[in-house]
Amino acid sequence: MLEKKIYTLAIESSCDDTAAAVLCNDVVLSNIVARQAIHEEYGGVVPELASRAHQQNIVPVVDVALKKAGITKNQLNCIAFTQGPGLMGSLLVGGSFAKSMSVALQIPLLAINHMKAHILAHFIDEEGYDKPTFPFLALTISGGHTQIVKVKSFFDMEIIGETTDDAVGEAFDKSAKILGLPYPGGPLIDKFAQEGNPKAFPFTKPKVPGLNFSFSGLKTQILYFIQRNVAENPNFIEENKADICASIQHTIIQILMDKLKIAVAETGIHQIAIGGGVSANSGIRTTLKDAEQKYGWKTYIPKFEYTTDNAAMIGIVGYYNFLEGNFSTAEITSKARIEF
Ligand code: KG4
Ligand code: ZN
Repeated sequence: MLEKKIYTLAIESSCDDTAAAVLCNDVVLSNIVARQAIHEEYGGVVPELASRAHQQNIVPVVDVALKKAGITKNQLNCIAFTQGPGLMGSLLVGGSFAKSMSVALQIPLLAINHMKAHILAHFIDEEGYDKPTFPFLALTISGGHTQIVKVKSFFDMEIIGETTDDAVGEAFDKSAKILGLPYPGGPLIDKFAQEGNPKAFPFTKPKVPGLNFSFSGLKTQILYFIQRNVAENPNFIEENKADICASIQHTIIQILMDKLKIAVAETGIHQIAIGGGVSANSGIRTTLKDAEQKYGWKTYIPKFEYTTDNAAMIGIVGYYNFLEGNFSTAEITSKARIEF
């Protein structure tokens, strides 16, 4: 008997990227992202501009995703979309589009949690990438979230630690802003850090009990550090950019690693998967790979294209929900904040 092929169209529009992907079972056939450059001028995402750009992008992005996958819309078996969390105006564009398409094609609609999708992106079938087995720990690090999650199954997850203020992506972006770098500054800190000495400028780590995080104090510490040094030497940033970036990145990585070590000790789980935009960071990727030797962990680092926001990760969760029959009705609403 031939294995049934399930074609999933996935749409992700939670923030400033309009993305669509087509999967055949757990294999990604196409993964298209239209980045919205407009926000760079404003030093951050402007919600109203984001939702307008989504409206312009969504039809061509879905069209390209289908063409690249080599299928027509009539071959689709289901449509998955990001229900939340995210910017309401942005979520609504993807949500409304997905709903109308599922009604028009009379195929199931699947509402997906963006943060869970960052975790389950590891189940996309990719050559050279292992899938974690349950239970495992997930460290989700993005522009809006920082969480340690105990993942018991595709549908059973528990947040065991999270940030009490800024997300780790914000810590990168706000630090970059202090250094005069454009938004989003995370990838630039990563780039400059590669040439710098991570121990050049020691910053203190916050003291937060248990598995929770705090990053706002680090941001303030960096701000005062820069102000103090620039007052003495106006060229301080230019002359020390690589060392400053390497030191900031090193501190952030140490904060994350400290908490992961506690999480492993408390749960006895040694499998760690990372996800979210900040998991693109080369320092974090190397440190976690090294942790396999150092601490005997098994670590899962996603393929680069599945780290920052993308629709393939929405598609893989959609596929597993489709298999379970977890369909949504057309009454489902987008949610800026959503139960985990
Ligand atoms: O998951 P994501 O694409 O969007 C959200 O759901 O927030 O994450 C975006 C965040 C931004 O803060 C961006 O600066 C950060 O991920 N980021 C990085 C790197 N690439 C993206 N941070 C540090 N190093 C990187 N290489
Ligand atoms: Zn994200």
